[in-house]
Amino acid sequence: MKTQVLYATMTGHSKKIAHAIAERLGSQAYDLKQNPTIPDCDLLFIVSGIYGGDSKPELISFVKSLSPTQVRKVALITSSTRNSAQGSLRQALRDTGIQVATEEYLCQGGFLFKAMGHPNKDEIEDAVTFAQNLVKEPVLS
Ligand SMILES: Cc1cc2nc3c(=O)[nH]c(=O)nc-3n(C[C@H](O)[C@H](O)[C@H](O)COP(=O)(O)O)c2cc1C
Repeated sequence: MKTQVLYATMTGHSKKIAHAIAERLGSQAYDLKQNPTIPDCDLLFIVSGIYGGDSKPELISFVKSLSPTQVRKVALITSSTRNSAQGSLRQALRDTGIQVATEEYLCQGGFLFKAMGHPNKDEIEDAVTFAQNLVKEPVLS
């Protein structure tokens, strides 16, 4: 199964998680800031935080340019102080017709004085395990 990892970050947590996953899966981590071209893949992991109660607008715009022929399935990995999910991002992906894994890995992400030190090593390792388990699942056609 061909996998890729895309991340969008403000304070670096998503970059750490994305690189840990990419390294273990033998794939590459692409930074949204570089406006990357995502190579065709069976499963794309999108790693990001929640900002002002929502997904990053640039990330939502970016996924609108993806297609199910290029990316067969997406899995979301999200850190935030309130363990929030990427509702708007999930919807934008669904609108493209790309299959989105029901499970989303949610982890604590520290910001200012809230939850400092998160995501920690264990949480990053759990995100890697989440990714490894999804790779084992078949992608529906
Ligand atoms: C400008 C800003 C706004 C944020 N707003 C929220 C928010 O509304 N809800 C929340 O749960 N976390 C919020 N957070 C916390 C981030 O989602 C969390 O720190 C996340 O791990 C950041 O990921 P990153 O380091 O990849 O940017 C905010 C962080 C920043 C920097």
